[in-house]
Amino acid sequence: MNICCIGAGYVGGPTMAMIALKCPDITVTVVDMNAARIAAWNSGTLPIFEPGLDDVVKQARGKNLFFSTDVAAQIKQADIIFVAVNTPTKTYGVGAGRAADLRYIESVARTIAEHAETGKIIVEKSTIPVKTADAIKTILASNSKGLKFAVLSNPEFLAEGTAVKDLTNPDRVLIGGERTPEGEKAMETLVGVYARWVPRDRIITTNLWSSELSKLVANAFLAQRISSINSISALCEATGADVDEVANAIGKDSRIGPKFLKSSVGFGGSCFQKDILNLTYLCESFGLPEVAAYWTSVVGINDWQKQRFAGRIVKELFNTVADKKIAVLGFAFKKDTNDTRESAAINVVRDLLAEHAKVSVYDPKVPADEIKIDSLGKGIDNPRLTVAKDAYEACAGAHAIAIVTEWDEFKTLDYAKIFAGMPKPAFLFDGRNIVDLAALRKIGFKASGIGKPAASRRAEDLG
Ligand code: NAD
Ligand code: UGA
Repeated sequence: MNICCIGAGYVGGPTMAMIALKCPDITVTVVDMNAARIAAWNSGTLPIFEPGLDDVVKQARGKNLFFSTDVAAQIKQADIIFVAVNTPTKTYGVGAGRAADLRYIESVARTIAEHAETGKIIVEKSTIPVKTADAIKTILASNSKGLKFAVLSNPEFLAEGTAVKDLTNPDRVLIGGERTPEGEKAMETLVGVYARWVPRDRIITTNLWSSELSKLVANAFLAQRISSINSISALCEATGADVDEVANAIGKDSRIGPKFLKSSVGFGGSCFQKDILNLTYLCESFGLPEVAAYWTSVVGINDWQKQRFAGRIVKELFNTVADKKIAVLGFAFKKDTNDTRESAAINVVRDLLAEHAKVSVYDPKVPADEIKIDSLGKGIDNPRLTVAKDAYEACAGAHAIAIVTEWDEFKTLDYAKIFAGMPKPAFLFDGRNIVDLAALRKIGFKASGIGKPAASRRAEDLG
């Protein structure tokens, strides 16, 4: 069997590497129009940082895992084609700012229709609006050779930073297809691929629309939990409750569960916001404005939380950060990834620069040029923005430290040494609740966290 995957990004690369590793008899080729990305996949430095991924790629690459720019040739050879191209939020025309931009999906469908010489199974791996399979089917059916294609939905649920773990041991694999003999047969073929390493009872098959919709809904539910706890973090700050204690207390209820209740400076990443906006657009298109408004509020709280964090820094620094150095620790949207797409750090840095602060950013994995020019391409390049080689350089001479990404190394920095090199009062704002505020206060920091009681209130409470 030959598998081709179009799109060698955060999803296409790792998922195909895992299939190749687990299915040595299947030849897997990942293609992309971005030649630099393909070159990186073929090199010693992969284009994405993902714990454990180097090992997986090394084991399969050159044996049954290949990376290529020859899209047409690989389409011809493939029995199954995964489509893992980007589906960003549309920035123009009808639905701008909310609907998914499906131009890459459509272009892939047309390329397949043009180059295929035999019928194939086409698998939607990208996250797409419900009913996209209809559009793909229609485009494929218009091929001049009378070929038959089966279109399946197989959304990806991996999270960045834990992609290898998630792919090795997924909670579930979801496959949607048409409930026709051809559709069922195609689903069984794809089930057969995953069943090589995923227990059969974790491979769910549904109709196409349930599968497409479930992906958007899963992300919406996950993001909703974060916005819920983040909304409560503000109430904790106002009342003296501690958001981690509240999260722990409610998470012990097995109906609520403990995961995804970590209050933060706001969720980032390329998908949560994009997929919720896409869901709200779909709801409105289907005449359900109340449902759309409900989910829109999840994004609204997230925007507010990001602003609130930067606003608090300005407020606590006596309402001005102009010409003050602020160290921003972390720029990736979460730890263990070099991905900065929609990172809360972008908003925090922008807001601080708008207040004329001098911002020094350090991130262990994000290259300096990506910090200066954000992934949206708008650019936050500014003479007051510098990139430090380590956390100590970022913090030297800073009036305040803002922890924005929860990298483990920020937990064990020598904060006494850092404190000694800062003008006083020295502030620290922990946007991830990863450091010991009491210990930092002992050193002399004016330290605060998200949803944490202020130092004075804590002292009062403790009598
Ligand atoms: P990405 O931007 O990292 O990768 C997409 C790749 O597709 C790019 O390298 C691009 O050059 C390539 N591409 C686009 N059009 C092409 C074409 N016509 N021919 C050949 N190559 C083409 O995106 P990603 O993060 O891998 O996400 C891909 C999809 O998976 C999105 O729909 C996303 O919502 C979904 N998803 C992402 C994640 C994640 O963790 N990043 C997780 C689950 C689902
Ligand atoms: C998320 C989902 O977890 C994946 O299942 C999904 O496949 C993926 O989106 C996608 O469709 O792209 P990802 O965005 O990579 O994965 O990472 P998450 O671990 O979900 O974190 C997203 C954001 O929420 C990060 O900024 C993270 O720091 C933040 N977060 C997460 C919190 O603030 N609190 C939490 O408790 C959990």
